[in-house]
Order: sequence, then structure tokens, then C-alpha cells
Amino acid sequence: MRWPAEAIWEAVAPLLPGFTVEILPELDSTNSELMRRSRDGRSEPVLLVAERQTAGRGRLGRGWQSAAGDSLTFSLGVPLAPADWSGLSLAVGASVAEALHPAIRLKWPNDLWLDDRKLGGILIETASFGTGSAGGRYAVVGIGLNLAPRPAEGLSTPPAALRELLPYAQAPDVLQLVAAPLVADVLRFAQAGFEAFHSHFDARDALRGRAVTLSDGSAGVAQGVSESGSLLVHTAAGLQAVSSSEVSVRPAAP
Ligand code: BTN
Repeated sequence: MRWPAEAIWEAVAPLLPGFTVEILPELDSTNSELMRRSRDGRSEPVLLVAERQTAGRGRLGRGWQSAAGDSLTFSLGVPLAPADWSGLSLAVGASVAEALHPAIRLKWPNDLWLDDRKLGGILIETASFGTGSAGGRYAVVGIGLNLAPRPAEGLSTPPAALRELLPYAQAPDVLQLVAAPLVADVLRFAQAGFEAFHSHFDARDALRGRAVTLSDGSAGVAQGVSESGSLLVHTAAGLQAVSSSEVSVRPAAP
């Protein structure tokens, strides 16, 4: 595969000094690799792509399965100091969806959806580096996108594929579309917080107005997200703000 590493570097390096692009044929997981590097004291900004992951990770300890050529798997590692981290995954989702296609919706808090099926997922992890004024946090923003249809077995949400929207999409082209806007948006988030992305999320919110079931057993109607990116759910007990660490959410069966 021919990857647009240089074009991405040229677009991003002016925004992010020290930025590099690295494409590897195989890794266990791009997120795991960047978290290992940050533990070893390497916290420079990097876009790390794996053509194949052997132990891809999803949220909540799940795995992320993908086949070389039929998916795009990469992570952006970047030192980041936002005043408030809440809503970062929503901002990332909005950035990727906008870079790709108007039909892509966002399923709070971390999924890219097409027609109620899962097109991609986002796994954000952070690590601290250094100490005192020389220290900070390193954010690892991992993104997995299905390009071709994949087996639905074992998945809680049926999968969708980007080629349903962009029939000839290849992983390098898709990376070229999303990478520079993603870096720009993550840096913007660090400056302006979720507020700068709230209306962008709203425009693609897949749950708003729909009956949802929360993993704590309660149910209600999704009412968009709060200023900090919490999901607002109208339940029998009133309006609840749900943060992603508390519960997961599914649209209720019709
Ligand atoms: C989810 O939907 O649960 C999140 C999936 C995130 C998958 C991506 S693929 C690139 C990066 N490396 C990983 O191991 N996971 C993320």
C-alpha cells in the first residue's frame, strides 16, 4: 500500500512541531504501542498507522477485530493540556465524520454510525509524562474504521462499511482525508474545549429523540448532550446527565 505520509506530514507539521508519521505493517495495537512509548518517556506527537493489528483494543476491555486492507487502524499521540478533557471523544468523532461523509452519525460517546450500524470506533487513553512544570499528559486517540463489510458475529451492534458510502475507498485515501483535520481539531479542543464542537456533535447525534436503555437498567429518551458532553436522558426520575464512565447506552428495541 502507498501511504500519504509525506502529504500528511506537510499539512500537520506547521501546526504541531516535532510531528512525525509512522506506518508499520503490523503491530499488536497502535494504542498499546503509543502507551508503551509514553511509559518509556517518549511523548512526541506522532500519527501511527498499522496495516494490521494482531491485538486491537476497543472500549470497556473489548477487542477490535480488523483485516488488513479492509480497515483503517491508527492512533494519534499528542501531548495535550486542555482545561477540561470532557467531550474529547465527541469532538474526535465529529472531526472524523465531517472529514468523511455527511451520512455518518455519532453514537454517544465514541462510535461512528451509518444507518444504526457501527462504522468505526474511537478509543482515547492518556498517560502522564515528566514531572512538575516539565510534565503533562499524553493523549492517545485511537481510531478504527471498517472499510469493507466484516462478520457481525460477536458484535453487539451490526457493522457497517465505509465502502457503502465511498465505494473505492482504500485505507491510505481515508487516512489522507481524516488525518490533518483530526490533528487540527484535537489542538482546537485543547484551546477551546467541547464548546467548539457542541453544535457539530448535535448535527450528527444518532440518539437524540430516541428511546434509549442505559446499562444501569434505567430507560428514557435521549435529549442531546450537555456543555461538557454528558448524554442527557429524560427518564422517569427526570433529566439525567450521563457520563461515559458510568453507563453505556443503546437505542431501545422499537
Ligand atoms: C471501540 O469501538 O470500542 C473503540 C475501537 C477503537 C479501535 C482502534 S483501532 C486503532 C486503535 N488501536 C487499538 O487497539 N484500538 C484503536
